[in-house]
Amino acid sequence: MKLFDVYPLFNIEIVKGQGCRVWDSAGNEYLDLYGGHAVISVGHSHPTYVQAIADQAARLGFYSNSVVNSLQQTLADKLGAASGYDDYALFLINSGAEANENALKLASFHNGKRRALAFKHSFHGRTSAAVRVTDNPSIIAPINETFPVTYLPLNDASLVEAELKKGDVSSVIIEGIQGVGGIHVPAVEFMRSLRELSTLYGACLIVDEIQSGYGRSGRFFAHQYAGIRPDIITVAKGMANGFPVGAVLISPMFKAGYGMLGTTFGGNHLACAAAIAVLTIMEEENVLENVNRVGDYLMGELRRLPGIKEVRGRGLMIGIEFEHPIKDMRNKLLFEEKVFTGVAGTNTIRLLPPLTLSMDEAATAITRIKKTL
Ligand SMILES: Cc1ncc(COP(=O)(O)O)c(C=O)c1O
Repeated sequence: MKLFDVYPLFNIEIVKGQGCRVWDSAGNEYLDLYGGHAVISVGHSHPTYVQAIADQAARLGFYSNSVVNSLQQTLADKLGAASGYDDYALFLINSGAEANENALKLASFHNGKRRALAFKHSFHGRTSAAVRVTDNPSIIAPINETFPVTYLPLNDASLVEAELKKGDVSSVIIEGIQGVGGIHVPAVEFMRSLRELSTLYGACLIVDEIQSGYGRSGRFFAHQYAGIRPDIITVAKGMANGFPVGAVLISPMFKAGYGMLGTTFGGNHLACAAAIAVLTIMEEENVLENVNRVGDYLMGELRRLPGIKEVRGRGLMIGIEFEHPIKDMRNKLLFEEKVFTGVAGTNTIRLLPPLTLSMDEAATAITRIKKTL
């Protein structure tokens, strides 16, 4: 059987990772400024993380959601304390798309409405409802066109209000910082308006923190720069440092009912052990402080480099936009300088390194990027 060919691959096989470095099968070492697409939060193969998963696998890997799993409550307690959302409820699933799928569904259960407002260049995943609110018609299949969605430009609150006024909007969904769209930070005032307007017109505000969350922006959640509290927050990616885990944080205004949401694998023992280990490491190693320090340094240095149109982002979620396509530069970075980076569109490089990136590694990154300019 061959693999279904949907990924344009680099001909590199990564076989080992340690901290912010990875090695390929030929023994080449790379600096990882991509984090496997914003997934590696506390670094590759962190000893605390490895031990937690190994211990849990030896004890019990999985049992179903029909019995008590106290690891779920431990995770919820730790996440509530770390994020400032200890009054919210937690629903655990396995991926980002699933998190948004459940968030949109919950909103619609709650207010009985159907339409969603999403934003231009948004990306929320590839399953039915999540892809429907993604602004990329090429990945929306006819069967995904199940409910009405209006895509609006970022940062124009009056257009949002004009739509909400019609009274049929179930949810407004926005990324904490747009990732796939090219690292666009929504204005603080705009986020505040979304909060006020959603409440005023009876829509649920969903903030997708799947890429921008869990410390990547320098705050636990990127929306916390605006001092708002969404009705629903979705997370995945870095939550368990590569173990497939997603979650929905749900405000107390939603009432749970048996059977309303559910999953086989979500919140399983191994997944919880991995996610708990990430929060433990984030706390013990003061990862947020590191993100701010190293992120500020990187952003400052990048802004001094010649030929760059714009450097955008917060913390360790950084977009470097050029006036020209960056394909050659990215290849040079990867194959000659041995640095993994991400892209957005044709002209923007995305940096999404592990949140434990050191100052020395950041300085190495700048030196190597300079060489490719
Ligand atoms: C903002 C955002 N939402 C949702 C997703 C989908 O997550 P997953 O691929 O885990 O389904 C992604 C993935 O890149 C994302 O960046």
